[in-house]
Amino acid sequence: MEAHMNSISTTPPLAADLISFIEGLPKAELHLHIEGTLEPELLFALAQRNNVSLPYASVEELRAAYAFTDLQSFLDLYYAGAAVLQTEQDFYDMTMAYIVRSRADNVRHAEIFFDPQTHTERGIAIDVVFAGIARALREARERHGFSSAIIMSFLRHLSEEDAFATLEAALPLRAEYRDLWIGIGLDSAERGNPPEKFARVFARCRELGFHLVAHAGEEGPPQYVKDALDVLHVERIDHGVRSEEDPALMKRLAEQRIPLTVCPLSNLKLCVVDDMRKHNLARLLHAGLAVTVNSDDPAYFGGYMNANFMAVAASLRLSRTELVMLARNAFEATFLPAAAKQQLLLELDGYCMAH
Ligand code: HPA
Ligand code: ZN
Repeated sequence: MEAHMNSISTTPPLAADLISFIEGLPKAELHLHIEGTLEPELLFALAQRNNVSLPYASVEELRAAYAFTDLQSFLDLYYAGAAVLQTEQDFYDMTMAYIVRSRADNVRHAEIFFDPQTHTERGIAIDVVFAGIARALREARERHGFSSAIIMSFLRHLSEEDAFATLEAALPLRAEYRDLWIGIGLDSAERGNPPEKFARVFARCRELGFHLVAHAGEEGPPQYVKDALDVLHVERIDHGVRSEEDPALMKRLAEQRIPLTVCPLSNLKLCVVDDMRKHNLARLLHAGLAVTVNSDDPAYFGGYMNANFMAVAASLRLSRTELVMLARNAFEATFLPAAAKQQLLLELDGYCMAH
């Protein structure tokens, strides 16, 4: 922790005009776990509402526990925190809080992960999870034109059989959530849980016509990125920063413009990098990869979209042109229909012209 604080404090501050440029930049968020948006204040409020006892005396004490050494040390707290989510209203409140926060960062479209197994394992019905998240997203779409989609993610530390059971439980809801549920993802502990473990269930999801993504190359080796592409047939790689260790893979990612949903503050907090100035985001971008910036689990990692953009802009000294490339890559990498995508890209062009 000390090292992180020091490295941040030695990074030169961003110029005021670059800060306001980032704040106003229209953004798409493609790597966001809704359970990772549960801020300590809301977590405490829900614990109280649902009579769940927490092993922390205060919001400050909980926040102080967010000092992670690796992915697993985070996942332990993240799954424990999700236990306060019990009712449809809880999922609604969490999702609405994320919408309010991300609209303030000028996020124009979000493709949001949720982990039903985290909840069904605790006896929460899968319908409750879908209903609460969807109610908030639909309300935001109607009231504010906030565009979104949801990606149901399987927990890779659990079995493929468990993933199949989750898919079977969710499929009857597909028609009801057709306006939102567009894809399937794969998250949780990467090391030791390679993509092949989920080859059959991803093949089934592919037949069903879902968009496919998977976390790969966060803590796991570049081989997992290749296997996510070749065995699971994913369209985007979540994280993917370790791809840099394999030059042939880098070439392929650049040539095929396979989007990487990179999460800078997450990488720093989970010690994937030990100093933001050493983050490879700029190198990946300059190598021609379709890099995007995302917040992953913002309540745990210290910032939403703008904070992630600011962190890389300051530490990697990114130019406006590079920041716009990152924003553009994200709009291009969305699973939106062509017309909606084009409209957002035009909005981005308009912003750049005016600034
Ligand atoms: N990696 C893997 N699983 C996760 C993450 C992550 O960054 N965030 C939430 N679940
Ligand atoms: Zn993630």
